[in-house]
Amino acid sequence: MALEKPCIVLLLIIGRVAAGVQSDKQDAPLSAADARKLKNPVPYTKKSIAQGRGNFARYCTGCHGQDGKATVDVVADATDLTDPSVWRNGTTDGEIFRSIRDGAGASMPAFKSQIRQEEDLWHLVNYIHSLWPESKRPPLQEK
Ligand code: HEC
Repeated sequence: MALEKPCIVLLLIIGRVAAGVQSDKQDAPLSAADARKLKNPVPYTKKSIAQGRGNFARYCTGCHGQDGKATVDVVADATDLTDPSVWRNGTTDGEIFRSIRDGAGASMPAFKSQIRQEEDLWHLVNYIHSLWPESKRPPLQEK
């Protein structure tokens, strides 16, 4: 059949385009409303907090400081991450996820291209919770 080959090629092209649309969608910034609907799929455990701590040291302390308070030697006007009452971009798990993934305000960069695994973003959310006053932290789920 003469038509068979062009048809397969066409199908491959359609497949590629569809995959491209899909990945664009995944990388598009989340709206605030969508972010609020997100549920943290990673339980708040010591192990998760430890994993978040590693990435925090690597990517975040330059602006937010070792202790997250953004007090010493800190670039720009970074938020004190230990005090959710002064935050400007939302304090639900999904909103924190969004601030890290897509950036926040004028000078907090997006990290989705450096931290590719969503799970690692959630570990950071959990780590940030561990910096909060005890009364505002979620209960630790031991495993
Ligand atoms: C280049 C400096 C810089 C780096 C690096 C940086 N941040 Fe930020 N961050 C900021 C600034 C500035 C703000 C305040 C944004 C604004 O104006 O609301 C901010 C805000 C935030 C917020 C939102 C707080 C709020 O007001 O709601 C979170 C959460 C956050 N940062 C987490 C992180 C994490 C986690 C990392 C590492 C993955 C990180 N940041 C890396 C500068 C930085």
